[in-house]
Amino acid sequence: MLAEQFRKGEIKRGEKSYMKRYQQKNVSDINLEDYLGEYEGSRATVDDMFFDCGRRKESLNGVWHYAVDQYDTCLRQHWFEERYQDGNGFTLPVDYSFNEWPTMNLPCCWNTEKEMFLLYEGSMVFTRTFRYTDMETAHTGKKERVFLKIGAANYICRVFLNKQYIGMHRGGSTPAYFEVTDALQTENRILIQVDSARRPEQVPTENTDWFNYGGIYRDIELIRVPATYIKQFRIALVPDGTFSKIKARIRLSDDGNMQSANVPGTAPLSAELRIPELNILVKIPLSDGYGELVIDAAPELWSPENPRLYDVFLTCSEDAVSDTVGFREIRVRGREILLNGRPIYLRGISCHEESVANGKALTDEERLETIRLAKEMNCNFMRLAHYPHDERMAKLADREGLLLWEEIPVYWAIRFTREATYEDAENQLKEMICRDWNRASVIIWSVGNENADSDERLAFMKRLADCAHAADDTRMVSAACLVSMDKLAIADRLAEYLDIIGLNEYFGWYSPDFDQLPQLFANSAPSKPVIITEFGADAMPEHHGTIQDKGTEEYQAYVYERQVETLRDIDYVKGTTPWILYDFRCPRRTSVIQGYYNRKGLLPPDKKYKKPAFYILQKYYQDRQ
Ligand code: GCU
Repeated sequence: MLAEQFRKGEIKRGEKSYMKRYQQKNVSDINLEDYLGEYEGSRATVDDMFFDCGRRKESLNGVWHYAVDQYDTCLRQHWFEERYQDGNGFTLPVDYSFNEWPTMNLPCCWNTEKEMFLLYEGSMVFTRTFRYTDMETAHTGKKERVFLKIGAANYICRVFLNKQYIGMHRGGSTPAYFEVTDALQTENRILIQVDSARRPEQVPTENTDWFNYGGIYRDIELIRVPATYIKQFRIALVPDGTFSKIKARIRLSDDGNMQSANVPGTAPLSAELRIPELNILVKIPLSDGYGELVIDAAPELWSPENPRLYDVFLTCSEDAVSDTVGFREIRVRGREILLNGRPIYLRGISCHEESVANGKALTDEERLETIRLAKEMNCNFMRLAHYPHDERMAKLADREGLLLWEEIPVYWAIRFTREATYEDAENQLKEMICRDWNRASVIIWSVGNENADSDERLAFMKRLADCAHAADDTRMVSAACLVSMDKLAIADRLAEYLDIIGLNEYFGWYSPDFDQLPQLFANSAPSKPVIITEFGADAMPEHHGTIQDKGTEEYQAYVYERQVETLRDIDYVKGTTPWILYDFRCPRRTSVIQGYYNRKGLLPPDKKYKKPAFYILQKYYQDRQ
């Protein structure tokens, strides 16, 4: 019956499966067990990313219609197919009204958009329409290619365009790129399903010490590129201690032969790199779509004190990109950290990506406020915990002069024996490195935080550390490790595979005996630099008492005083990023002084007041300048 109708053209291609499903609908749709299986394919990963600085972008930010979809009915019923009639003219009852749904301004976290959504975790469906006009590339007459970029959606997003499933992305803090060239029409409907549910097999797992914001919370853009385009453009100082060479690496989206073959008599393909302020204008020959070149140069070196940036321009065939980069070198020598060949002490502070008003969907003003508060505290360094923050944060840090630690959320009890979990973690690591490769401010990639030292965890984290080293030979690799309390020493086996050891210790807070802190350092003999990546204490803003009273500002200040008086004398401790710049939302923190906030901030969530400990750290860092 179906085959006959199909053959006669009574049922359009694609309808057959739907009709089959529809006829079974009264049975299968509500009884579907594996309704997600058909949406696991076409997963966007680091391999789908491409260099997009300096490209024209068409924003899809703005008003989107949305529905809360707690039962994933959209996926079960294929709402995106917009079937209102069956093959016989029968009007189907549907459970959605795309254009009549309420609206939300994207990007945003739904939790801060409406009070009723504050604690909502699960699926939401967003949809809008938009126009697209195809602009053929004159030179080759070949169709341009168009990609959809989602800056970040927590945790899974699934994209549908003009009734077609396009693909999905896992990972709540890194971008997703989907090619939509063949699905675009003049009038388009896009639908994005976002699932913010926490799950044990995800990265992070279902248990963290921060708030689980949901939504599409970074930019949504269409990016047009020529048929063959610049997929990767990496440029940095050669880390050989001479500060006199710049290395550029270019990779095209294909082997590029089509381009040169297309126009007879053309020379083998090459790219052109321009850095006007360094009088650099060079051609970089490409072979099979890849080329690299080391160029003698004497750039003014980037540092927090002198955040010198250069405009760089790259063209290749019909494509052109640009960036603004700083040239600096970060290395480790014995127990020292060297920035541009000079020993440096990383005067840092940790921070989450959060504001009271916007959750993770920070404004540039809010990011700038965070950076300026850190600099006011005499910081030259910041730990962006515990996941990749918006790419703008590193661009602002490049401009304002602040070194950064960036991290993937391999946090606490990850499923270390599950291969799919490892692949998820590795993909997020590679996406973070790929996205921020050209950022001078980023000096350390961190592969995780506070995982207990087990054989499975060691194998998992060593793989990640090796992956980071292989992906980037210009930066250091670290992780925030735990104190080995049984030995009262720095003895995490992962340290062997790191360039710098991060250490979280809470003497004076979770570990009561302060006298153990100097003992810890006396018991340890690391062969490489250590950064104390966390210490601190809760203090409810303007809650006062004595230095015996936990939760008061006096107690927090006392902890900071005792900590800095110990740390200042440990010669292999080359930096600190105390926990944390400002209080942040945390569902685990329900005591009377916390009120669902982690109160270890040196400022309250609105950053409008400085607790006394802020000034203790500010003075300590002033003395370390
Ligand atoms: C841990 C963890 C942080 C957490 C902090 C705390 O070290 O890394 O994410 O917020 O301790 O307990 O306040």
